[in-house]
Amino acid sequence: MGKATIYITRKIPETLLKPYQESFSFRMWEKEDERVPRDVLLEEARHADGLLTVLSDNVDEELLAQAPNLKVVANLAVGFDNIDVDAASKHQVIVTNTPDVLSETTADLGFGLLMATARRIVEASAFIEQDKWNEWAPFLLAGADIHHKTIGILGMGRIGEAIAKRATGFNMNVRYHNRNRKPAVEEELGVIYSGFDELLSESDFIVSVVPLTEETANTFNQEAFAKMKTSAIFINISRGGVVDEDALLEALDKGEIRAAGLDVFREEPIRSDHPFVGRDDVVCLPHIGSASVETRTTMIQLCLDNISAVLRGSKPITPIK
Ligand code: DGY
Repeated sequence: MGKATIYITRKIPETLLKPYQESFSFRMWEKEDERVPRDVLLEEARHADGLLTVLSDNVDEELLAQAPNLKVVANLAVGFDNIDVDAASKHQVIVTNTPDVLSETTADLGFGLLMATARRIVEASAFIEQDKWNEWAPFLLAGADIHHKTIGILGMGRIGEAIAKRATGFNMNVRYHNRNRKPAVEEELGVIYSGFDELLSESDFIVSVVPLTEETANTFNQEAFAKMKTSAIFINISRGGVVDEDALLEALDKGEIRAAGLDVFREEPIRSDHPFVGRDDVVCLPHIGSASVETRTTMIQLCLDNISAVLRGSKPITPIK
């Protein structure tokens, strides 16, 4: 019997494949920053025993129905809204993700984005590049304080907790809303559970960390933004689909909220003509929440370990339940 075939949908360092090359045969899309075309993905999936996918790959019924040997899909992300998990389970394909290993890194970015948005760091850096700095001035690029303010976190999973920890270090009051209460986290970090409406109306910073599901789609809509303080700063590091982007633009234009920091968008990538780009009250990032060299390396290794476990007949390390 030949080696099992694993198809990887983005170029990753060959060195990471070394430990597995004796047991498996690898095929890989050759571009790092270009998604694999759908027809290529379908064709590769037809012959693959395992797939290592990224969030722009749509793993749906069409793909799964044409992949007779496929046993495992390892998604290089904690989120898995790009995968039809019901269809995968119907086709007896195990799906895995990369929880835990990226929580601290994503929280670092989330908190950095919050700080950049509140203290106008990107705008201030551009100010110098544009040669606008003539003199020190009392309110030059004055932003909003972070310390001692209230942060409201939607989604108290591992990333939410890591953000809460950082916020307590800044002497912030931390509120959260989640499907279920987390008494142990409340006790450990001194965070306060709030109803969703209360979270919106009481928070100075609202941070979205919820996964995108049918229930969370468009959570941040016109009604939600209208409930926020006019000084509120909205941060999204989860998925663009949890936000009605037109409603967010309108809320910013009408002054219903003060600013937004966005690492994720409904359709990615966005281009420079996107309405969020170029505004002083919005900081946009290209979905880099977990993008540290260390964490991305660990995520890739976890995906390979998951695939390898399933193809050897063992239990995957981080299956999606
Ligand atoms: C995730 O893990 O879901 C991130 O958004 C991708 O890095």
